[in-house]
Order: sequence, then structure tokens, then C-alpha cells
Amino acid sequence: MPITAKQSIRQNPAGLNRGLQLPLGPPLNGRIKTTVGTRPRFTFIDLFAGIGGFRLALEKLGGKCLFSSEWDRFSQQTYRAWFGETPEGDIREIDIASIPDHSILAAGFPCQPFSIAGVSKKNSLGLAHGFKDLAQGTLFFQLATIIELKRPPILFLENVKNLKSHDEGRTWDVILKTLEDLDYWVFDKVIDAAGWVPQHRERVYIICFDKKRYVNRPPFHFPTPPVGIAPKLQDILETEVDSRYTLTDHLWTYLQAYAQRHREKGNGFGFGLADLKKVSRTLSARYYKDGSEILIPQKGQPRRLTPRECARLMGFPEDKPIVVSDTQAYRQFGNAVVPPIVEAVTIEILNVANFKTQTTSRHVTSLRASVQ
Ligand SMILES: C[S@@+](CC[C@H](N)C(=O)[O-])C[C@H]1O[C@@H](n2cnc3c(N)ncnc32)[C@H](O)[C@@H]1O
Repeated sequence: MPITAKQSIRQNPAGLNRGLQLPLGPPLNGRIKTTVGTRPRFTFIDLFAGIGGFRLALEKLGGKCLFSSEWDRFSQQTYRAWFGETPEGDIREIDIASIPDHSILAAGFPCQPFSIAGVSKKNSLGLAHGFKDLAQGTLFFQLATIIELKRPPILFLENVKNLKSHDEGRTWDVILKTLEDLDYWVFDKVIDAAGWVPQHRERVYIICFDKKRYVNRPPFHFPTPPVGIAPKLQDILETEVDSRYTLTDHLWTYLQAYAQRHREKGNGFGFGLADLKKVSRTLSARYYKDGSEILIPQKGQPRRLTPRECARLMGFPEDKPIVVSDTQAYRQFGNAVVPPIVEAVTIEILNVANFKTQTTSRHVTSLRASVQ
């Protein structure tokens, strides 16, 4: 009888099915040195996969993706074009036992119930948000159920920075407590993408290690941005840009009037005419609406970024074609994780993933047995 996260949630609203234990996933291959510069091999699954920002980075480091889930058909379209497979749909409908054992569970779980934009929109509609938002907020508990049943050695989660302050920190406390109750060591940090790409984009990264495998807290630390000259917005701009990306008279007049009204009220909302010698504001999934948060100055009216420029702003490689409409591409890049940061964090994960010296002899024996 298949077990889906939805069924498990119904049985136990906290989503934690304490009694059920499936076999542990395969450990990282203990015979391969996991240091920077080598090619470690490991397996992973890609949940809430979007367009595969995690997958790009993990595959680059030698990881093999065993399973993916993403229900949006346009994101699936991009994912199929880039990775040659269509992710499974609604994560709540998936038979958890059918998910292969894996070393790293990667998930940028939906941030809408937790993000400032999502919260204010839901407030204005009189809707619940966070964990009270049954449609989306509980997806974290779907994730918790999968973790409980599959017990991946390592979890790599990502979300908006506002997750930490939402509901006066209560949402964050529940998330941390859930992961700790699941018996994981938890590390988290808000990282600004600005050191890797020319964009101010703060996201919280959560890395967890299964205490059953890692008896002592691993000496994991988050990466620091690469040294050298930080990338600037002007570095990622296209030279020839179609005129359709230039704002119409009507929209430009509207945005200026809107900004003026807000200035008079004393708040700072409005369009963002970018300084090309600096980094941009955060690219959001709503950029397709008017592009007002990042406008590129040019002779005459400013223009919005092209989808290819958005891909670059997020650190996606040039060889990945954009196969959807501009609207969908803006949404997909605005929702995505920054692959170069995932890569940098994963290198740090792999550096400590096999710290046998820190483990008990019983643990080392079981690790040895399982890699033979
Ligand atoms: C924050 S985005 C993750 C983006 C991804 N990390 C990337 O790099 O593209 C969250 C994704 O979860 C997907 N999603 C939301 N609810 C889902 C569900 N019930 N089942 C599967 N996917 C879902 C959304 O369509 C969205 O693409």
C-alpha cells in the first residue's frame, strides 16, 4: 500500500510519523576523497525542483539525480529541456516508498506563505499564511514526512530570508524544532548572492546531517564569497536588446507617478533604476508584471532585463536554452536558487560528509560495511 505524504499528514497533522522507519539511504562513497578539486560521487533527489537550480550545481560536482518533483507544467518544460526528464507532479501524491534512497535531499520548498510579498498579499485577501496556510504552508510538513521515512544522510534546504522572522520567529522555531526532532544536526545561514552574482538576494540556507550517521556535530561551515572583483550588473547585460523590453510611455509615466505618491507618504516603494556599476535589487517571480524592481537605464525610457539577463543574474549557464515564454522565464528565474551558491555550499558539505574520525567505531564499521 503506497504511502503518500498527504496520507501521512492526514494520519498525523504534525506530519511526523515517528514509528515508521525505512532503510537508510546509501552513504556518500567513503572511498572517494571529498575535497575541493576532486570529483565526489553522491546521489540526490530534487524536490520542489523548479527549473533545477539545485540539480545544475549538484550534477556539476558529480552528483547523480535519482528523483525529481515539480508540479508546474512550464517549469517541467524547462526541466525536461535541460535534463531530459519530466519531474513527478504534486509532491503530496507521491508514494514515498517509491523515492529511491539517496545521499542528499535538496529542496527549495515554496516560500510564498513565508515571504513578505506573499504574506501581505494573503493578509489583504484575508487569507491565512505560514503554517496556517493549508494549501502551501504544510508543504514543509510533507517534506518532513519524506525525511522521516527516507532518512537521507544530508538535507539541503533553501528559502527566503523572511522565513526566519515570519510570525515573530515562530515559523522558524517550528521548522528548526521539526528538523531537530527528526534527529538532524542543523546549520543555517542567510547568504547574500551578491558575492557570486551581481544581485542582492538574501536567502536562508539550511543544511542538516543525520545524527544516526554523524554521531558528533560535523565541522561544517558555510562558504564565503569568492575573492576578487565582485560582479557588477553591467557585466551581465546583453549588447543588442530588442525594443520590446523598453518600457512603454504609459508604463513609465505610471511607475513615476506611483513612486512619487509613495515618496509623499514617506515610504520607499517604487521602481528601481539600477546602477550598472553595482549589484541589482532582488529579482522576484513577479518581475514579469512590469519589471519595476530592476530597470536598466538607457537613452530615453528605461528597459527591463531580458530573460537571458535574468538567467545570468541568477548564475545560470549560457548553454541552457530558454524554452518558455518571457513571462514564464521571468517567473522561473525569479523563483530559482542561485546555482553557484548551491555549488559553493555543496563543496563544504562534501568536505565534511565523510569525517570518519569524528564518528564512533560502530558507526565507522557500519559505513565501511555499506560501501563494500
Ligand atoms: C521556490 S520554487 C523552487 C525553485 C527551484 N529551487 C529552482 O531552482 O528552480 C518552489 C517550487 O515548488 C513548486 N511546488 C509548489 N507546490 C508543489 C507541490 N505540491 N508539488 C510539487 N511542486 C510544488 C512550485 O511550482 C515551485 O516551482
